[in-house]
Amino acid sequence: MTDLSAVQAFLPCATPQAWVDWALANQQLLLIDHAHCEKKAASTALNLMFRYNDRPDLLAALSRLAREELLHFEQVLALLRKRGITYGLLSPSRYAAGLRAHARHDEPNRLVDILIIGALIEARSCERFAALAPHMDEELGRYYRFLLKSESRHFEDYLALARRYAPTPIEERIAFFQAQEKILIESPDQELRFHSGPPASS
Ligand SMILES: [Fe+2]
Ligand SMILES: [Fe+2]
Repeated sequence: MTDLSAVQAFLPCATPQAWVDWALANQQLLLIDHAHCEKKAASTALNLMFRYNDRPDLLAALSRLAREELLHFEQVLALLRKRGITYGLLSPSRYAAGLRAHARHDEPNRLVDILIIGALIEARSCERFAALAPHMDEELGRYYRFLLKSESRHFEDYLALARRYAPTPIEERIAFFQAQEKILIESPDQELRFHSGPPASS
């Protein structure tokens, strides 16, 4: 069983219903962006492994995480192909960049901030899979319920690494990023993406 309550307790707000409705009405676009997100998640983890080469706990946790994200990428690509949906370029949402813009530049603060942001992104993905799964077709619903488990583990991995490498308690920093995340999740967005806000028109 997945502990969705820990994920929900960590997030500053629930996904707006208007986003859920928007996503369900545009599932092909959502799936293409989902594939991009899995690839990006693997690439983020690999970048951290290169930048923080001297931290064995980080290398072990993120190497496994990157492998899982690439596996998810392959699984979503297979679903796209099966459904005759063409995987192509898509502009990224403002979400991850909007969070990263607030990361501090000095170490180890930069590492701690990037890890907290990683925890938020994984937790939000997990919460959105749970919100969408009951309303999708059998195959996608089953797959999204399956993904919940790994994304909630990834959330815990990132949070544990943030605590592991922070020289002082990180509660204030978590609260700061939660406030930023809430703004990004609740303010209107022009384009539907997996981590976008609700539609600007509604
Ligand atoms: Fe994933
Ligand atoms: Fe993940």
